Amino acid sequence: MRRAFSCGGHGKTAQLNHPDAGQITARKEMPMPTLNEIRSTFLNFFERNDHRIVDSSPLVPRNDPTLMFTNSGMVQFKNCFTGVEHRDYTRATTSQKCVRAGGKHNDLDNVGYTARHHTFFEMLGNFSFGDYFKEQAIPYAWDLLTKDFGIDKSKLLVTVYHTDDEAASIWKKYAGLSDDRIIRIATDDNFWSMGATGPCGPCTEIFYDHGPDIWGGPPGSAEEDGDRFIEIWNLVFMQNERFEDGTQRDLDMQSIDTGMGLERIGALLQGKHDNYDTDLMRALIEASAHATSQDPDGPGNVHHRVIADHLRSTSFLMADGVMPSNEGRGYVLRRIMRRAMRHAHLLGAKDPVMHRLVPALVAQMGQAYPELGRAQSMIEETLRLEETRFKQTLDRGLRLLDDELGDLPEGAALPGETAFKLYDTFGFPLDLTQDALREKGRSVDTEGFDAAMAEQKAKARAAWSGSGEAADAAVWFDIAEDKGTTDFLGYDTEIAEGQITALVASGAPVAVAKTGETVQIVLNQTPFYAESGGQVGDQGLLKTETGTARITDTKKVAGVFIHFAEVTEGEVTSGQAAQLAVDHARRSAIRANHSATHLLHEALREALGDHVAQRGSLNAEDRLRFDFSHTKPLSDDELAKVEADVNAYIRQNSAVETRIMSPDDARGLGAQALFGEKYGDEVRVVSMGFEEGSGRGPDGQTYSIELCGGTHVRQTGDIGVFVALGDSASSAGVRRIEALTGAAAFDYLSGQSARLSSIAQDLKARPDEVVERVKSLMDERRALSNEVAQLRRELAMAGGPGDGGGSEVREINGVKFIAQVLSGVQGKDLPPLIDEHKARLGSGAVLLMADTGGKVAVAAGVTDDLTTRVSAVDLVRAAVAEMGGKGGGGRPDMAQGGGSDISQSEAAIKAAEGVIST
Ligand code: SER
Repeated sequence: MRRAFSCGGHGKTAQLNHPDAGQITARKEMPMPTLNEIRSTFLNFFERNDHRIVDSSPLVPRNDPTLMFTNSGMVQFKNCFTGVEHRDYTRATTSQKCVRAGGKHNDLDNVGYTARHHTFFEMLGNFSFGDYFKEQAIPYAWDLLTKDFGIDKSKLLVTVYHTDDEAASIWKKYAGLSDDRIIRIATDDNFWSMGATGPCGPCTEIFYDHGPDIWGGPPGSAEEDGDRFIEIWNLVFMQNERFEDGTQRDLDMQSIDTGMGLERIGALLQGKHDNYDTDLMRALIEASAHATSQDPDGPGNVHHRVIADHLRSTSFLMADGVMPSNEGRGYVLRRIMRRAMRHAHLLGAKDPVMHRLVPALVAQMGQAYPELGRAQSMIEETLRLEETRFKQTLDRGLRLLDDELGDLPEGAALPGETAFKLYDTFGFPLDLTQDALREKGRSVDTEGFDAAMAEQKAKARAAWSGSGEAADAAVWFDIAEDKGTTDFLGYDTEIAEGQITALVASGAPVAVAKTGETVQIVLNQTPFYAESGGQVGDQGLLKTETGTARITDTKKVAGVFIHFAEVTEGEVTSGQAAQLAVDHARRSAIRANHSATHLLHEALREALGDHVAQRGSLNAEDRLRFDFSHTKPLSDDELAKVEADVNAYIRQNSAVETRIMSPDDARGLGAQALFGEKYGDEVRVVSMGFEEGSGRGPDGQTYSIELCGGTHVRQTGDIGVFVALGDSASSAGVRRIEALTGAAAFDYLSGQSARLSSIAQDLKARPDEVVERVKSLMDERRALSNEVAQLRRELAMAGGPGDGGGSEVREINGVKFIAQVLSGVQGKDLPPLIDEHKARLGSGAVLLMADTGGKVAVAAGVTDDLTTRVSAVDLVRAAVAEMGGKGGGGRPDMAQGGGSDISQSEAAIKAAEGVIST
């Protein structure tokens, strides 16, 4: 069983120095078509025959957790064959981007050295979902090849599965092939299956015969690995489905899946034997030759070939959202990049080369794949930065390699430890070291390499558990080691399939979780963002064939994404494939808040100064919070300016770009480092907004550049609107701004507006008059309350209703004394009243007591001529003591105090009189 279309054909390795490396003649007197034309001819042929032209799906499969990269045209239609998914068409045709470079069995080693190996290739295909079957698929293929492509019929032969009489008879009848050109194959070579499970069926393969001058035999013969007979098209008759337990069922409908490598058919139609001699590949080789000033066909030819191939796979992977990293898909990308960069180095390139080739690639393929053009500047920049960085260690690594080899006996393998040192210290992926040794006819002790790697991982784990973090962390490390870490797909998609690698309940692995149970679910890949960098974890749904779970939170430990889940229906089992869907509305709100936080950070720096640095943040679905270093509260003007600036950059609606680079390069561009994050070898850099002359970014015009692993909006306009709720102190020297964006901001603003309307209604004013009206009401109120106070005082002086009694002047020990209990006046009203009484008496003492609602305000005054005899302070103290209070103070001519019991006012007056009479 072959796993997928083999762009090398039966694993053959056609060496470059083949005698037939020159011209071949496949077609009769037709102008030579370009690869772009061949692609169009194929798609148009099937469109003419009622097929829908469907776009290539991304290189990172959204619907197959077991595949690292899309490796054949049928991947996006997998569920259409089994009947799980229905589309509004039953016939489709595609030109599918494919990468074969991940996993254990990949073609990377051979690429560049052989005629037909690629890391990236295009697979042309036509598909029927329960529509036509072999009776139609074979005639379509035959007509396209022999009529539209004009291939000489006498050069074609086919294979069929040994029991498939029907296919053999169609070939015989329709194409007129003789029995000796219909070869029956009993092996899995002619029974195609996408993997251990999934849709499958017998297939028929079409071969081109390059003639007896080339060594090789027909398929199925002992010499089949020769280069005479080359497979050009595989037609699969999908009619079965395989299951994990090895059983197989007949599918309800019979379908068609075909695959033809564009590079291979292109070489044939262009009369070349080598895929790298086709117009498209040649243009890239010449671009490489030009950039390195090296002859495209000179001794460096193989280097140009490696560069041309790797330029395609790396650029297309980045256009589909894969970024270089040290894990998973990102690491495969980095390995391919570095391999190309070493070959550029071997061509004598002093400066980075790869990024200079991207325009040539976009010129060749940008029309067929517009995503390439859209990502062009990001691809160029990432390649340039990666190559600049790798060059810093490449020379030293190669020198170390040469030194080590010099010390080894002739032909001995390079010790695994040395290969590991090259990996760990100099950034040489293992296959790059192998590639370098290949030229010298040497190999690497891969077991030793694996052992050194395992030892390093064990050390890292010991160091981690020594750091005293979560006690149950061991379980996640075990999972990381046994099952691998989780690949995060969520920068590009919110929906994907993943495979459940572990279920954990109460800190221990379990096999199954049933309805009502809470469980932590680990998957090999996920679109769910795990809480970090201030951004909260995603929520959403997980579904398997047997059950559904609600994901309530996502966190990560040791590269393992932990989905906190509650099983709501059926059961979920470890090992199952699961459909994953992030709660879109919630994630969109989080994204808007996170991007707004970046704009806010920059706006604060511009408004307050460069001392502003992030001290913490929260990006939740309902709000954002940003803590930053600044010592004073923000003035209203400052806050208003910050809010206006953020909104201006939202309206600018610039694209948000992400790139991967070294921390130093990022800082060189002016990136702001986020507080509390630990940065490894490479960082993700998020930039948005443009501002002339900002000095940031490669163009010196980028507004915000931050190191950040979070998820962001595509365009700043997606944030909608930004409202700052205010500024407060968070801790010493740290201020905090809380804010809203998008729908939450809108709700807040419309709530404010509704309140304003209701106030306006009460005031019988228009909303725009409210401020003035409230101001004048406040002025009026102030004037009125002053007036009331004045009237009360007057009433009190006149013995009116404010006078609680006792205002008559009595004489004690020759001193005139007025004592009065007042109501309706405040403590602060007493001193002016005392002054008025004193003025009226000319010489004497005054005691005033006012009931202020549960409390008693007391004040006493003594005219200046008497202060040596009687002190106001003593009067107040004596009175207060009677009324449940304590103390009192002031000057001898005026003192105040407070009590609590007005009913004791008589006793208080008596006590004051006592003070005067002594
Ligand atoms: N799926 C088949 C292959 O990859 C035909 O497209 O060869």
